[in-house]
Formats: sequence, structure tokens, C-alpha cells
Amino acid sequence: MRFHLKNVTRQFGQHVAVDSVTLEIPAGQMVGVIGRSGAGKSTLLRMINRLVDPSSGSIHFGDTEVSALRGQGLRNWQRDCAMIFQQFNLVPRLDVLTNVLLGRLNHRSTALSILNIFTREERIMAIAALERLGIEQAALQPAGTLSGGQQQRVAIARALMQSPKMVLADEPIASLDPLNAKIVMDALKDINEREGITVITNLHTLDTARNYCERIVGMARGRVVFDGPPNELTAEAVHAIYGSDRDGAGIDESMTSTSINIASAKPLASATPSAGVGTLAVAEA
Ligand SMILES: Nc1ncnc2c1ncn2[C@@H]1O[C@H](COP(=O)(O)OP(=O)(O)O)[C@@H](O)[C@H]1O
Ligand SMILES: [Mg+2]
Repeated sequence: MRFHLKNVTRQFGQHVAVDSVTLEIPAGQMVGVIGRSGAGKSTLLRMINRLVDPSSGSIHFGDTEVSALRGQGLRNWQRDCAMIFQQFNLVPRLDVLTNVLLGRLNHRSTALSILNIFTREERIMAIAALERLGIEQAALQPAGTLSGGQQQRVAIARALMQSPKMVLADEPIASLDPLNAKIVMDALKDINEREGITVITNLHTLDTARNYCERIVGMARGRVVFDGPPNELTAEAVHAIYGSDRDGAGIDESMTSTSINIASAKPLASATPSAGVGTLAVAEA
């Protein structure tokens, strides 16, 4: 199903955070959004998920006008596009398994949700999602006791439990060391490739976007200033996106550093399609 943003704008007071962005994203694409801090990347993602409403313009998914959804329709949409955050947003005192099961909440009746009763099928699905991310051994630990990399993998498992049509990730690896960054990006790529789920991810390093995303959207001052495949991301395009510092220092080293080296990649243990548990984890309810 085609996803379409038409002239989407968001103002905060006088400040235009996202300025008339138009994008068409076919189902199954892996899109990296890059740009300096303050360029409007998070606001753009949050509007897609409707955590923030556009000031003007519209967002469409197939025949549905996402930007006009209310009530149950809006809740269904927020279930359909799972969000991954830089700071994981887990409930630290709850165990990992329960955190993952919370991804099912929007699939359930209110009574079952209040009582925190999960079915056997849901528990199996949650364990399968944890196995896929290689953290099933931590299932009964409080989420807050895990390392950042492990917590982000739990957050991805929770996202899978939503059976999402789209995964939105806001700088998912910005707080992680290179090895965990790689594990998390590999997991997102795997979800994109195996289930054909659209992934839109904000990234703070250029090379990660180049390595993982078939399409890169570059933002500057709320506008899209580049939209194309990584091989079209020339030095001029990079300059248009990042510009140079007021003091002329140019692009921050961290933006272009090789934080993830795909070549030395150890594949995710669960990346092999063993037993098809991954498919179970995102099977339509
Ligand atoms: N809730 C808000 N209230 C006021 N200004 C905001 C709010 N959210 C974002 N902004 C402003 O909008 C601009 C874009 O922010 P953001 O989308 O977070 O950029 P990025 O994710 O690219 O760093 C920034 O100038 C930021 O200060
Ligand atoms: Mg941001």
C-alpha cells in the first residue's frame, strides 16, 4: 500500500519545524532520513505516527487519510505503525516478556488489557520475537537491568508484536555502541526484507544510511533537500543537507564516521529463517 505525504507542514508558534514536505513511499521500502539536529526529522516521523498533528497538508496510506483519523481509527493506525525511540521507552521495572507483550495491547479488548491477561498464543509469539532478536534468555529480567543494545532489541520485539505495516525508528542507534548499533540496524533491515514492512528511520550518521537504506531523504530547515538512492548522495548533496557550521568548521566528524562496518558483520543468529518464528511474530492477527 502506497504511503503519501502531501505538503505536510508543522509549525511550533512562529517556527516552521517541517516545511511543506511531499513524499511518496511505496510499500516495503527502507528509507533513511538524515539531517542536522533541528532539521525536522523527529517532527516528521511523529506526524506520520500522529503523535504530532500537521499544521497543514495531509498524510495518506492507500485510500485512508491518516491525518484525518480520529478515535478507534487513529488507534488502529498507531498500532499499524510501530515506533522505535532512541531511548527505547520500555517500562524498566517490568520484565522483558511483559514489555514485549505490551505491544499487543492495541489488539485486545479493554477488559483483557486491564487484567493484563495474555493468551498462550501471545506468549509464544512474544518468545519467538525475543528469539528472533537473540535476547530470549533475558525474558524474565526487569527491562531496566539490560544494556542499551539489549533494550533496543526488546523494543523491536515489542514493535513486532504490533504486527505493524510500517516501522518508524527515531535515531534507534544514537545511544548504542557500534556492535549493538549493527545488531539493531540488521534487525530493522531483516524485518524490512523478510516481511516487506516499510521502515522509515532517522539516522544521525550518513554511513549508516548509506549502508542500510535503499532511499535517503535529506532534510535541512524543515525541507526535503535530497531524495534518492545512496549512490546519488554526492558531496554537493551532503553539503546541501548538512551545510557547514557558522564558524566554517564544516560537517561534524560523527556524521560521516564509519560507525558500522557491514563487511565485518557477524550475522544475527536468528537471521536464518529457522522454524519461521519471525513470520509468526508478525503474522496478521
Ligand atoms: N514540541 C515542540 N515545541 C516547540 N518546538 C519544537 C517542538 N518539537 C520540535 N520543535 C522544534 O522544531 C525543530 C525541529 O525539531 P526536530 O523535529 O526535533 O528536529 P530533528 O529531529 O531533526 O533534530 C527544532 O527547531 C525544534 O526546536
Ligand atoms: Mg530528532
